[in-house]
Amino acid sequence: MAPKITVIGTGYLGATHAAAMAELGFEVLGLDVVPEKIEMLSRAEVPMYEPGLEELLARHVAGLEGSSGRLRFTTSWEEVAEFGDVHFVCVNTPQKHGEYACDMSYVDAAVASLAPLLRRPALVVGKSTVPVGSAARLARMIAELAPAGAEVELAWNPEFLREGFAVEDTLHPDRIVVGVRGERAEKVLREVYATPVGEGSPFVVTDYPTAELVKTAANSFLATKISFINAMAEVCEAADGDVAKLAEAIGHDERIGKKFLRAGIGFGGGCLPKDIRAFMARAGELGADQALTFLREVDSINMRRRGHMVELARETVGGSFLGQRVAVLGATFKPDSDDVRDSPALNVAGQIHLQGGQVTVYDPKGMENARRVFPTLAYADSAPEACRGAQVVLHLTEWAEFRSLDPVALREVVAEPHLLDGRNALDAAAWRAAGWTYRAMGRPQA
Ligand code: UDX
Repeated sequence: MAPKITVIGTGYLGATHAAAMAELGFEVLGLDVVPEKIEMLSRAEVPMYEPGLEELLARHVAGLEGSSGRLRFTTSWEEVAEFGDVHFVCVNTPQKHGEYACDMSYVDAAVASLAPLLRRPALVVGKSTVPVGSAARLARMIAELAPAGAEVELAWNPEFLREGFAVEDTLHPDRIVVGVRGERAEKVLREVYATPVGEGSPFVVTDYPTAELVKTAANSFLATKISFINAMAEVCEAADGDVAKLAEAIGHDERIGKKFLRAGIGFGGGCLPKDIRAFMARAGELGADQALTFLREVDSINMRRRGHMVELARETVGGSFLGQRVAVLGATFKPDSDDVRDSPALNVAGQIHLQGGQVTVYDPKGMENARRVFPTLAYADSAPEACRGAQVVLHLTEWAEFRSLDPVALREVVAEPHLLDGRNALDAAAWRAAGWTYRAMGRPQA
């Protein structure tokens, strides 16, 4: 019989994983400790913007018209322990307040709640991004706490989904990585992932530490690639070169590749920044900090981008933001997401506000979160509204909506037609033809 699946923690990762498991044909029970989340998910509603996720939930959540009924949600640990053969742990591992290290308290609490209730054979599968060594520690915890003893195994199965593509990445992953200690765990996970593997997703079996490291190494590599191209943008600016052309040209070399070479105001979000910091902290604990000193540079190049955008804007408005109106297009850390965690766009808006600029922000999906995080900024209901009377317009998150703005019409509402493209994503020629000064990072001015 197919294993029954539970998913513990129903944030981005958990809600998507639960819906995807139901889509693959499994009976799934999702748990969260926040009752409001469970109530929403039981109506196939998600507390965040993620394309395709609500539709996928609606196809499977029990009790909804026309659904498969394979997906249910609960707040009861007892119910989860009784129901599941495979328990996926998908809780958050944020950066610790004021430190680089990762906060493991949610993962630890989840395992501490579940393990004492496991009275029959089960597989606990960690998906959260954790410091290397966590899986071995959690395996010891389970062995001590679970009444079924050695019948309960642990596997580590990192998740590589991107926000905005969470459903696609979960149903059609680039690879599936499983860190296991025994053949039984591998067999169960091969059964769980039979469909994507059958469709061509490679299945990589390894030990615990390697599985944990694959995730942090992948995110570190991506962050490094972005900071590399942003470092090239700094040099291009000094030498009057064009970083977009440079990226295109080096990207033709397949060993380098075209992806993740978009220069701009840098990376943000709930993963890359905190993951590279937690990785450095963990390497330090292991006595391997020298191996990762380059990540400190990756981080500082990245943070410098935000300051540089603020400088460009200040220069554009004549050297001081006092009394100047600044329009900010974009608040989320990337398009197709409503996530503003560590968002470069919101950070730039905030810095300008603190320096006395009158900042008005518009974002297609991130307004609610932005208002909550930064209530002192002004917000507008549309891009033209945000631009009204502005001395400079900053394009900071590359939503498709901003690419279809009409530069001629927008020219009429601003005080001064100055555009700074922090994402190198707008059509420079079209904006210049409409009378704007268009400036992008790492590219020649005219
Ligand atoms: C990332 C990883 O891609 C994913 O595999 C992992 O599971 C979680 O972390 P995500 O945080 O959703 O996913 O965003 P991603 O698409 O990687 O973008 C991260 C940041 O880098 C964004 O702020 C984006 O704007 C920026 N970025 C990306 C660039 O500045 N330039 C690029 O070329 C690519």
